[in-house]
Amino acid sequence: MSTAAVIAIAIGVVVVLGAISFFTLARRSDVRGAGALSGETVQRDRAARKQHDGVVDAPTASEVEAAGVAARSTAVEVRPQAEVVEWTPPDPEMIGVTRRQFFNRATVSLMGVGIGAFAAAAFVAFLWPSGTGGFGGLVTVGKVDAINAGIKQGNGFFYVPEARSWITAYPADALPLAETVYVESLLVTMRDGYTIMSQKCPHLGCRIPQCNTSQWFECQCHGSQYNRNGEKKAGPAPRGMDRHPATISTAGVLTINTGVKVAGPPIGTNTTGQEAEGPHCTGGEGKH
Ligand code: FES
Repeated sequence: MSTAAVIAIAIGVVVVLGAISFFTLARRSDVRGAGALSGETVQRDRAARKQHDGVVDAPTASEVEAAGVAARSTAVEVRPQAEVVEWTPPDPEMIGVTRRQFFNRATVSLMGVGIGAFAAAAFVAFLWPSGTGGFGGLVTVGKVDAINAGIKQGNGFFYVPEARSWITAYPADALPLAETVYVESLLVTMRDGYTIMSQKCPHLGCRIPQCNTSQWFECQCHGSQYNRNGEKKAGPAPRGMDRHPATISTAGVLTINTGVKVAGPPIGTNTTGQEAEGPHCTGGEGKH
């Protein structure tokens, strides 16, 4: 055989063996697929199970691999939806009143009652006429003997500051005419010889002083003039001096009721006929 024939036969053998090996490997890959365990690995797993003497629950390699994949997972666990329960308000009667609430409510209630009672008492006291003592009520002046002395000492005029009033002597011979002008509550003391007049000028409210020279009352504010009985003689005043009723007790004590005011006699009233007894204190006799 020639050398060329030997070389050709050798090349043919190598080509045939290579083809056989190639097709054999290709077929095994198609049967098991990617990721399939090799026969050696399967056999080692079976041998390991036998060595563990009946531990049939031992995970297989595929189970271990699946567990590893799950452990490396970054997926967010989704929690089951919580059950929503509808809110029901508690029953106040079941809750009841705590001790703190009780004391708070009791304190507020007592304060409210106290303030209300105080306000009611103050309101009633404000409206209630004062019975005795001080201006606005009954003012006890004193015994008539002391009043007579006071009139004499005051040159015909006796001032009672507690009653804000003047007392002068009323002539008995003027009573018949006075009976036709004045109300009974004033005549009570006029019959006993006294006239009680408010110090407040009926024009604009100034305090009216006596004028010792004229023996009249003469207002310094606008010049109104009144005789000693408070009957208007001149000036802008709309009437004579206002009066307060008074009483004289059986013990001879005179009390003025300053809670009652009687309007002065109208302009033109002149029961005593007293004219000015000297110079005026307010610049002359007016013509009103
Ligand atoms: S207030 Fe007395 S005259 Fe005017």
